[in-house]
Amino acid sequence: MNKNILIVYYSHSANTGKLAKLIEQETGGTLCELLPEKVYPGDYNTVVEQAKKEIQGGFRPVLKTQVKDLAAYDTVFVGTPNWWSTIAPPVATFLENYDLSGKTVVPFCTHGGGGSVHIEATVKKLCPDSTVLAAFSVYGGTVKSSQVESWLKKMGVK
Ligand SMILES: Cc1cc2nc3c(=O)[nH]c(=O)nc-3n(C[C@H](O)[C@H](O)[C@H](O)COP(=O)(O)O)c2cc1C
Repeated sequence: MNKNILIVYYSHSANTGKLAKLIEQETGGTLCELLPEKVYPGDYNTVVEQAKKEIQGGFRPVLKTQVKDLAAYDTVFVGTPNWWSTIAPPVATFLENYDLSGKTVVPFCTHGGGGSVHIEATVKKLCPDSTVLAAFSVYGGTVKSSQVESWLKKMGVK
């Protein structure tokens, strides 16, 4: 069990959650799902429109999740779906509300074909005093544990 790794993520339709759980298995880190107080609508078109407005307006949803003992972790993996080419608003709330300075932050995402686009840059902007590594991105729910393993090996985590 690696006590220094925290894996924080938001997932709307389970793809990012699946990737987060593989990272948990491969690293032995602690998993933490970000849950907004107000759940996002399940209907695709509705959530797409809501997310567009929230991202354009810089809205930060209140989180039900409280991330505990952040000081105990050196490395924080931060997972998000690609929403309009950037991070989902609950992840923005987390990055703004918690102090990740001095830590290594590893962004990861799942997407619908667009890749990670502005995700890494947005994380860097919200974590100016962290070492932000390159974003790892996976198409939808297609991730395999071997992919995650070789990525972590390349990073020197395994
Ligand atoms: C609100 C919303 C916006 C999205 N915007 C994009 C996008 O700009 N580019 C892209 O490739 N996929 C986009 N997608 C697809 C998701 O990134 C993709 O389905 C992802 O795997 C979902 O992760 P999740 O199951 O963890 O929520 C969007 C999905 C939603 C719901």
